Amino acid sequence: MDVATLRLRNLPLAARLSLTFLLLVIAGGYVASGLHLSGHHAARDGRPGLSVTDIEGVYHGVTTPPLLKELLEQGHPAEVSGGKALDEDDRATLLAWVTGDRIAENWANIDFGDGFGSPEEIAQAACGSCHGATVPAEKRAEPLLATWDQYKELCFENRVSPTDPALLLASTHAHALALGTITLLLCALMYATRFSSGLKGLLALCASGGLLVDLAAWWLTRQVAGMVSLILLGGLAHAGAVGLMLVAIGLDLWRPQR
Ligand code: HEC
Repeated sequence: MDVATLRLRNLPLAARLSLTFLLLVIAGGYVASGLHLSGHHAARDGRPGLSVTDIEGVYHGVTTPPLLKELLEQGHPAEVSGGKALDEDDRATLLAWVTGDRIAENWANIDFGDGFGSPEEIAQAACGSCHGATVPAEKRAEPLLATWDQYKELCFENRVSPTDPALLLASTHAHALALGTITLLLCALMYATRFSSGLKGLLALCASGGLLVDLAAWWLTRQVAGMVSLILLGGLAHAGAVGLMLVAIGLDLWRPQR
């Protein structure tokens, strides 16, 4: 079917320039929303960087164990250069403490460790040589660990509640209308290029199907945590196809006529 007799390359110069400017604006918008996404959600699970757990936290809610428990189980600091594994009794005492009930109360409790010392003493001795306040800042491993306020960031479960339904509804309404409209226009422009109809179909399907799957999965993930993979899959398909369409349309606007 010949959808459009419109050929982008035949448009007057002013029209092609305007379209190029708008393609750049849209590309900038996508980059900005990518940066916003990683900046806004990255630290949800109490670990740096954007991960699947962060996204699961936003849409489903997620509880991650205390970072200290994870680090002790992984054998930190044996894996860093110059680090050696903690003394087994110290490790067992800290693990028992951080997985127990009265974490804050037992921090300075000298009776907690059955003669090995309070969790505070053990931690200061085991972690202070690299993370302590006496290590000069340029040599110190992050994070700084000296006071209870600094240690306690590592010692509790990290609970992320899912986004409030009213906010998710507002976000869905804004994203569905804005991204739906932009995708519609980009698909239409794509069909007015000289690329093969196979490529046009593939990109249009990925961009539109990806968007539908992504937005629907925001809501499905509330019920089923595993649906978070659909958010990623749909989002990647959509963003990837939109990126390629932006490039393809831009190229077609300026590629010489045969
Ligand atoms: C031999 C030095 C050394 C000792 C001892 C040490 N660490 Fe570390 N630690 C490091 C280094 C180096 C890093 C940074 C690793 C990196 O950049 O990936 C680090 C990273 C960390 C982090 C950040 C990890 C993350 O995923 O964000 C935490 C938290 C931490 N250490 C806690 C501790 C605790 C608690 C102890 C005591 C049980 C301890 N460390 C003992 C060297 C040490």
